[in-house]
Amino acid sequence: MDTPYGEIPERFVKDMSAQEMHDYLKQRYSRRGLLKGAAALGALAAAGPVFWRRSYADASALGSPTGPQWIALGPDPSSEMYISWSAGAYQTAANVPAPKVRWGLTRQYGRTQWASSELVPTPTNAPAGNTDLTAYQHTLLDGLEPDTTYHYSVSNDGVTWGPDTTFRTGKRGVVDFRFCATGDEDTYTTSSAPIMQSIASFDPDFTIVAGDLSYASDDGTYKGIGIPQAYTPSAWDDYFGLLGPNAAQSIPWMVGMGNHDVEPLTDNGFAGILTRFPHLGANAATAGSGSKVVQSFSYGNVAIIGLDDSDVSALDTVNNGYTGGRQTRWLIEQLRKYRDPRSGVDFIVVFFHHCPYCSGGPCSDGGDRYAWQPIFDHFDVDLVINGHNHLYERVYPMRNNVVQAHVPPGGTIMPAVQGTTYICTGGGGAGLAASATSGWYGPSGGGGLATTGTGTPLLEVWGHQTARGGSGGTSSEPDPVTGWSAYRRGQYCHLVVDVTAPTFWGGMTSMHIRAIDPAQSGSTITSITSEAVMDDVTLVRRSVTGPARGHHGRPGGLRGRAQRKKSAMVGAKGTSMRNRDGRPGG
Ligand SMILES: [Fe+2]
Repeated sequence: MDTPYGEIPERFVKDMSAQEMHDYLKQRYSRRGLLKGAAALGALAAAGPVFWRRSYADASALGSPTGPQWIALGPDPSSEMYISWSAGAYQTAANVPAPKVRWGLTRQYGRTQWASSELVPTPTNAPAGNTDLTAYQHTLLDGLEPDTTYHYSVSNDGVTWGPDTTFRTGKRGVVDFRFCATGDEDTYTTSSAPIMQSIASFDPDFTIVAGDLSYASDDGTYKGIGIPQAYTPSAWDDYFGLLGPNAAQSIPWMVGMGNHDVEPLTDNGFAGILTRFPHLGANAATAGSGSKVVQSFSYGNVAIIGLDDSDVSALDTVNNGYTGGRQTRWLIEQLRKYRDPRSGVDFIVVFFHHCPYCSGGPCSDGGDRYAWQPIFDHFDVDLVINGHNHLYERVYPMRNNVVQAHVPPGGTIMPAVQGTTYICTGGGGAGLAASATSGWYGPSGGGGLATTGTGTPLLEVWGHQTARGGSGGTSSEPDPVTGWSAYRRGQYCHLVVDVTAPTFWGGMTSMHIRAIDPAQSGSTITSITSEAVMDDVTLVRRSVTGPARGHHGRPGGLRGRAQRKKSAMVGAKGTSMRNRDGRPGG
């Protein structure tokens, strides 16, 4: 069962050193059979919050012929949206004779559009049970108005329609907006679903996910088709069953890839991912990257780049070098493009799975660090978001592997002079990898319960490291770079990032990052209305651009929305956003 140390059985923990815990966690044995049964018994629905979105169960009660829906921003976020849905667990393409979406500004809809229906391609020599039987439907709605709420409904047969659902298109121009980030979601009703609900309660414009989604694939040791490994495609039914009704049927879910998303399938293990998520593999912005699962888009004055670090990781090496260095060259091209002032981009956020810096189990990924950290430095990347390590940790702003400023919670960072902030937000629902006070290496300076740890942080490196991976095998070594851990806590968590646009051309612009940890006990999140801001920092830049045309003074949308939400929470539950350290929580 789950333990304060995450995936390590309790009986082993008492005799294990931090090094041994690290080695154990690195093995990443199959967790599904061990953990799911116990976790599923948790009855969050009975004790937890009542959530305002329509539930999957509701959809079934209404006689919906379809499974859950999820959406993603299209190539132009302000006018395009991907609509996806499952035909329902084990409902194959034969049950989807006429997949259609109807949509419009009201429940009267007014427009109808055909969708595609696909099955995950199964290799002919796949082991028994390695077939995803569920059909996935997608369509891209275009010609939409920016920042506008649309109603939509989906149908498998074009006759019987699912429940009415809404989404809001992206904003246009340089305006205030909010996005959220998480990683390592999994399918637990007691932790994964509440994190999705918590994110939805902040009503972000979109959410980015730093990989490891359903954990259908055991540990990413796949290399080549048909090599046996633990693979449970039906986990995707569980994942979408939680994700759709709790969040992603209305909030664009911009997922990236982790080691558990590499399946024993074609396309370097990503054939399933490409069938389930249409925003990947279809974006012209990724041409030349050598990867089908990277992404790059701008929203307001922020650029978002999603990388596939299976290309360079030292912790999970199965795909090392598969792009032949093209992904890294593409990254440089993207950063050069976004750092051109004519792009209108101020902040650059990069996300991928393994952590270049992390002092909790398993450890830092030297493959990622050596491949990309010099590039992040060169282009003043503002924020790097990772997962894999099931915990929260913020790193002091770094440049050339040197801490530039000891910024405590509540502090301000100027990335243009102080470098890149790295944050691991791997507490999205999968079993925690470290407890509040144990399972950590070395000291942490800025706060969090885990201020002390045993030994020194470890760095997974290749024997002969190159920018494309390495040779000679990997090993864990004491990290030659020290003192970078700013704040850490072994908690289920997610990020809420509020971007404030400049109020005049060339004015200051900011990105306020809050790490949210809902009330929790052991492996269960007990309430999402008792959320704490456990850590926060504000990134500040002088803008290369200006407010959207037609805006006079500070755009009011975000502030108004945030204030209304805060008031509503206080009124409904008698609680408010609190701050664990007594600082203003907003
Ligand atoms: Fe992972």
